[in-house]
Amino acid sequence: VTKGHGVKGISDLGLNTLPQQYVQPPKERIDMRKVLNKESIPVIDMSNLDDPNVARYVVDAAEKWGFFQIVNHGVPTEVLENLMEATRTFFELPVEEKAQYLQENCLTKNVRFGTSFIPKADKVLEWKDYLSLFYVSDDESSRYWPSACRNEVMEYMKKSESVVKWLLKVLLQPLDVDLDSKESLLMGSKRINLNYYPICPNPELAVGVGRHSDVSTLTFLLQDSIGGLYVQKMETDHWIHVPPITGSIVINVGDALQILSNGKYKSVEHRVAANGDKNRISVPIFFNPRPDDIICPLPEVLQNGEIPIYRRVLYSDYVKHFFRKSHDGKQTVDFAK
Ligand code: SIN
Ligand code: FE2
Repeated sequence: VTKGHGVKGISDLGLNTLPQQYVQPPKERIDMRKVLNKESIPVIDMSNLDDPNVARYVVDAAEKWGFFQIVNHGVPTEVLENLMEATRTFFELPVEEKAQYLQENCLTKNVRFGTSFIPKADKVLEWKDYLSLFYVSDDESSRYWPSACRNEVMEYMKKSESVVKWLLKVLLQPLDVDLDSKESLLMGSKRINLNYYPICPNPELAVGVGRHSDVSTLTFLLQDSIGGLYVQKMETDHWIHVPPITGSIVINVGDALQILSNGKYKSVEHRVAANGDKNRISVPIFFNPRPDDIICPLPEVLQNGEIPIYRRVLYSDYVKHFFRKSHDGKQTVDFAK
C-alpha cells in the first residue's frame, strides 16, 4: 500500500486487525460511558428569518453549546447531494489520479490530498483520508482543484455564502460589531475539506479524528447518514453525538471567533469515531480570516472596558501552530494568550 492509497487502501485490504500505528492510547479512544444519550445540540429552523426568535436561538446555541444544526437554510438539497456524490467520486478515483494531489506531487498549495492529521508529527495516526481545498475570493485558487469535485464544491460555497453571512451578522449583533466592515476578517478565506473515513477493523481502538477545536471563525459541516461526530458538552468531560439529519448543516464556532469575541463565543472540542461497518464522508467548510490578517479581540468588544484575553496574532502563524502538533483538544488557543 503506497501513500496515494491512503487509509482507504489499507481498509480495502480487508484486514481483521488494526495496524499498530492506528491504535490510540486508551485516553484518546471514545469512552461511551462519557456520552450523554439524552442530550443533543440545538436544531434551528431557518425558514422564517423575520421571526426574531431565530436570531436569539442562534446566539443562545452558539454561547451555550458552540455547536448547532440548521435546517431549511435555503441551500438546495440538490447542491448538498451533488457535493456528497462528488466527494465519493473523488475518493473512488484510481490511486494514480488521487496521488497527483499529494503534497510531493502537487505544485499548488491550494489542493492537498492526504491521510490522517500530520503523519510526520503524530505518534498515532488517525483513520481518515482527506482532500483539502483552499479558496480566497476572486482569484485562481480553484483552478487546480480536481475536476471530479470542482464545480460541486464551488456551487455549495456560493449557495452557503448568504447563510454564513446571516449567521455571522446575528452572532456579532450582541457585540455591537457590524459585519460589513469585518467581512474579510471573518470569512476572507475558506478551506473546504472532503473527508473520507473508510471501514475500520477494531474501530473502538482507533479514531477518525482526535480531540480538537477548529481554527476557523465558523465551520459549516455536511455529514452523510452514518454518524460518528461527538461534541464536548461545554465545560464538562461529557460528550454528545451529533445525529445526522438529512439536509441539515452542522455549524460550529471556531477559535478565531473565540479570539475576536474575547471569549464570548467559545470553540468546542469535537472528535470523530471510526466505524467498523460503513465508510463515512463529511465535508466541512472552514470560514477563516485571511492568512495575513491579524486576529485579536475586536475593539467594539473591548469598548466597555473589558480586558483583552488574547494578544495580536498573525492568522497564518496561528494556523501554522495548529498544524505543528498533534490534535490536543483546545490547546491551540493558548498560543494567542
Ligand atoms: C472534523 O471536525 O475534523 C471533522 C468532523 C466530521 O467529520 O464530522
Ligand atoms: Fe473539526
